[in-house]
Amino acid sequence: MERSRHWSIRQDDVIPPVLGQAHRLVRAALERIPDPMQRFAIDTTVGNGFDTCYLARLVEGEQRVIGCDIQKAALDSTRSALVQEGLESRVTLMHCGHEQLHAQLDPSWQENVAAIMANLGYLPRGDKSIVTRPQTTLRMMETLLPWLRIHGVMTIVAYGGHSGGQEEVDAVQTFLSNLPQQVYRVLSYAFLNQVGIPPVLFAVERIR
Ligand SMILES: C[S@@+](CC[C@H](N)C(=O)[O-])C[C@H]1O[C@@H](n2cnc3c(N)ncnc32)[C@H](O)[C@@H]1O
Repeated sequence: MERSRHWSIRQDDVIPPVLGQAHRLVRAALERIPDPMQRFAIDTTVGNGFDTCYLARLVEGEQRVIGCDIQKAALDSTRSALVQEGLESRVTLMHCGHEQLHAQLDPSWQENVAAIMANLGYLPRGDKSIVTRPQTTLRMMETLLPWLRIHGVMTIVAYGGHSGGQEEVDAVQTFLSNLPQQVYRVLSYAFLNQVGIPPVLFAVERIR
């Protein structure tokens, strides 16, 4: 799967790629909070650390971002990326599945998290047989959504192109479509005319 296509924002593009749009949304949610020390964020799949670094640049203070992954290689890669930018003190990295992460969060984060990112699928340049799975992804959304503050945002980028990927896209879409409208605003965002099976961004904003 060619991921760079989903990243690259050309100078004259008006419509951002899905990952660029996910970044815009979490940035908007974090920047609503004037004091960067009061911004808390979660990366549920740190992978190579691009999203974790993005979140870490938007906060200040120690351990304002928590990230997890089931692969040690992903945590190592993310740690190096953070160190390279001098951001490591802002982030806690955990070797666990995101479906278990809620049990590790400090109670002071309850209804205080501005941004949660989930970039599903496999680790780019890693073992493509290790992928996120619908059942654990659903559990992650169910257990972490209540930690969002009002106007906090969860973004989920789901890929239908690998084995089991479309089932995951469908499971995420069904789960999110059934969230109560009085509490959450939910959208999906995808390019309709890209070659292959383009990824889908889902975004959830808590409003109550
Ligand atoms: C597409 S990559 C993430 C990309 C990453 N956000 C980045 O910026 O580089 C997906 C990651 O999800 C991880 N993963 C798979 N199942 C997981 C689970 N249950 N909990 C946490 N991470 C998981 C994989 O190990 C892989 O590193």
